[in-house]
Parts: sequence; structure tokens; C-alpha cells
Amino acid sequence: MAKPEPGLTLIGGGRMGSALAGGWIKAGYGGPIAIHDPNPSDLLQGWETGGKIALNPELAPAGILVVAVKPQIFPTILDTIKPHVGPDTLVLSIMAGITLDGLADKLGTDRVARAMPNTPGLVGKGMTLLCLPEGAPEGDAAMLRDLLTPLGDVEGPIGEDKLSAATAISGCGPAYGFLLAEVMAAAGVAHGLDRDMALRLARKTVEGAGALMMDSDELPSKLRENVTSPGGVTKAALDVLMRGDAMPSLMEEAVGAAIKRDRELSGD
Ligand SMILES: NC(=O)c1ccc[n+]([C@@H]2O[C@H](COP(=O)([O-])OP(=O)(O)OC[C@H]3O[C@@H](n4cnc5c(N)ncnc54)[C@H](OP(=O)(O)O)[C@@H]3O)[C@@H](O)[C@H]2O)c1
Repeated sequence: MAKPEPGLTLIGGGRMGSALAGGWIKAGYGGPIAIHDPNPSDLLQGWETGGKIALNPELAPAGILVVAVKPQIFPTILDTIKPHVGPDTLVLSIMAGITLDGLADKLGTDRVARAMPNTPGLVGKGMTLLCLPEGAPEGDAAMLRDLLTPLGDVEGPIGEDKLSAATAISGCGPAYGFLLAEVMAAAGVAHGLDRDMALRLARKTVEGAGALMMDSDELPSKLRENVTSPGGVTKAALDVLMRGDAMPSLMEEAVGAAIKRDRELSGD
């Protein structure tokens, strides 16, 4: 991975921050990566011992500054973030709900970007949305795509006006997948299966369906039709799920509610 000058700095070594830093280390970043976190995890301390990161070094302007703290903490730690922002620093925030204008205003630079990862990024299977201000150089977008790749796929840059809708799909979507496994297992138990076995079947089936979908060129709807023989067992179940357009209209309403909440939290 190319080394930005003067360096790569990460504020917040929590779940997402550590997933990113671990990915950079694996990708052979020539570091050390500067990581600032007042309560470093054992994982971070191990990386420091191995010389791969510098933990809480002196505050200095970064080449790329990645902000991965909780959004509610951000306004309270501006004094410790600002010294990392020099005239050439590119700032990437993965904080939910803080707009590009908000970042630029609080940090005193226009060279800002946002990314919205999702939790499968913790195992390198994520979908991360990337968002830059209009007119931002393609070089910045390319550098940030490269930086986010350890989490999985990167989509964008997308317009900030699309970010709430995109977040409602890929940011919240893992919860929809977990809910599917949860209710499938519960239905199995309701119909007489042992709970542990029902959970094993549901988890593996959701994982397998995802893997098959990613391995195939077919649309999800076609894959569904392929396993739905006329008059068959799957068809009997889907007739219930799709009765009166139940599943599509419920999902559309759910995504609408997520978009509304995301906009409220962003102060739109
Ligand atoms: N997890 C997700 O699925 C997800 C998805 C999309 C976006 N995000 C965004 O990613 C960001 C991080 O989420 P996360 O799940 O990684 O949260 P997290 O695990 O709580 O990580 C945040 C880290 O920042 C540390 N921190 C607290 N105060 C700090 C300070 N003054 N300076 C430096 N570090 C400080 C925290 O330490 P303490 O634990 O000691 O407070 C923690 O280690 C959030 O803004 C969230 O909106 C997360």
C-alpha cells in the first residue's frame, strides 16, 4: 500500500479503527501508523511492540487523518484532533451523522471525506460507501478507496444526498440479514426443531445463500425463482412471505424509516 507523506494517523482504535489498521498492516503499509486512543486495547499494544504502529505519539499534521471515534465524542475532542490537520492533510471520517460541511467547519479544512462502513468489514467482507465533496480530485478518491479496501468492497464516491439511502441498505443491512436468520431459527423451533440445530441451519443457510449470490451472475430474483418449483415446498413458503406484496412493502417502509432517522441524526 502506498505510503502517504507525511503519514497515516488514526484517531480511535475501536472496532472499526482496529479493523482498518489490521488491514493496513496486512497489506504491508510501510508505517508506522500513528494511532491515538486513550485506552489502547491489547491488540493495539501488541502491534506497537511489533513496531507496526506508534501508539499516542506526539500530535503532528498527518498526510491522511482517519477519524473513527463515536460521533458524540467528536465535538468534545476537537482540540486534540486539530493539531493533526495541516494544509495538505486529507481527512476521512467514518463517523455516522457528521456531514462533509460539518467536518470542514469543525476542522478548518475543505479536504474532507466520509466513509460509511458496515460490520462485515470486521471480517473483510464489508461494503463501505465513500463520499467526497463535489470537485474533489480523483487522486483523493483513489487513495481513500485503497485505504478502505481492507474492510471489503468500496462503493463510490457517491453524492452525499444519496448517503442516507445507501446507509439504509448497506450500513443497516447486516441487521436485516441477522434478523432473517433469527426469525428463521425461531420458526424452526416453533415447528418442533431443537433450538441449537435450528440456529445452525439458519446461520449456515443465510451464509450459503449470500455466497451463492456473490458467486453467480444471476439477479437475486432469478436465484429465488430457480429454487421455487411450481407447486413445490419453497413456493408454498414464498406465497406466504409475498402475500399482498408483504415482504417488499415491509422492506420499503423499513428502509424509509432508516433514511428518515439518518437524516434527523445528521441534522438535515
Ligand atoms: N461499528 C459499525 O458498524 C459502524 C458502521 C459505520 C460507521 N461506524 C462509525 O465508526 C465509528 C467508530 O465505531 P466503532 O464501532 O469502531 O466504535 P468503538 O469501538 O467505540 O471505537 C471508538 C474508539 O475511540 C476511542 N476513543 C474514545 N475517546 C477517544 C479520544 N479522545 N481520542 C481517541 N480515541 C478515543 C474509544 O475508546 P473507549 O472505548 O475507551 O471510549 C474506542 O476505542 C463511529 O463513529 C461509528 O459511527 C461504525
